Amino acid sequence: MKLVSYPDIEMMMIDLANILAGEIKSALSHEERITIALPGGTTPGPLYDDLCATNLEWDRVRVMPTDERLVPPDHPRSNEGMLRARLLCGPAAEARLIGLRPGADGMDGLTERVRRALPLSILVLGMGADMHIASLFPGAPELEGALRPDAPPVLAITPPGQPEQRMTLSAPALQGALNTHILITGADKRAAIERAAKLADPHLAPVCAVLKGATVHWAE
Ligand code: 6PG
Repeated sequence: MKLVSYPDIEMMMIDLANILAGEIKSALSHEERITIALPGGTTPGPLYDDLCATNLEWDRVRVMPTDERLVPPDHPRSNEGMLRARLLCGPAAEARLIGLRPGADGMDGLTERVRRALPLSILVLGMGADMHIASLFPGAPELEGALRPDAPPVLAITPPGQPEQRMTLSAPALQGALNTHILITGADKRAAIERAAKLADPHLAPVCAVLKGATVHWAE
């Protein structure tokens, strides 16, 4: 695990937006179209405010949430809604968003859409203080299946203690990313990532499924 500490959250968001812009540019020099997967939650909004203003060939970029709460896209807890509001504006409005809510074609259609968009060129994850990533929560009944190498790329999951069922990219879908970043703030999450590195068990600390090759970005 590579850990980068920043003097403050604002600096971290600006620096990470620049890093991601460089990685997107580089990936687009090798591929006609690329997919980036981005987290929901309360942390990454300022990152998207910085990234959306970057002049890139966004029309060649597919944006996918790492997971989704099964609420309507205009619901305040919708990750798709947050990405549309905070990232898909300015130059980045040209990007194509692939949402994780099943449509009329159900799980088969969603799985096919996600499968066609893989592998991920760039993955950004948040993490909970319980060491979950995406919606791979410790204690979720579906976690075991989501960690298997033969897991489907996306699956429904029922995180304990969360108000709604979710859809999440599975561990193999996340592990296939070329560049992986974990974006965390605060002392609790810093302690949690150190704990995960010691546990080294994705069943107890799902972040371990991607930690080895990831860059962790942290500010107080
Ligand atoms: C979600 C996210 C999730 C998030 C962590 C951290 O849907 O909530 O994708 O994995 O990154 O829960 O959330 P905060 O940034 O709100 O602490």
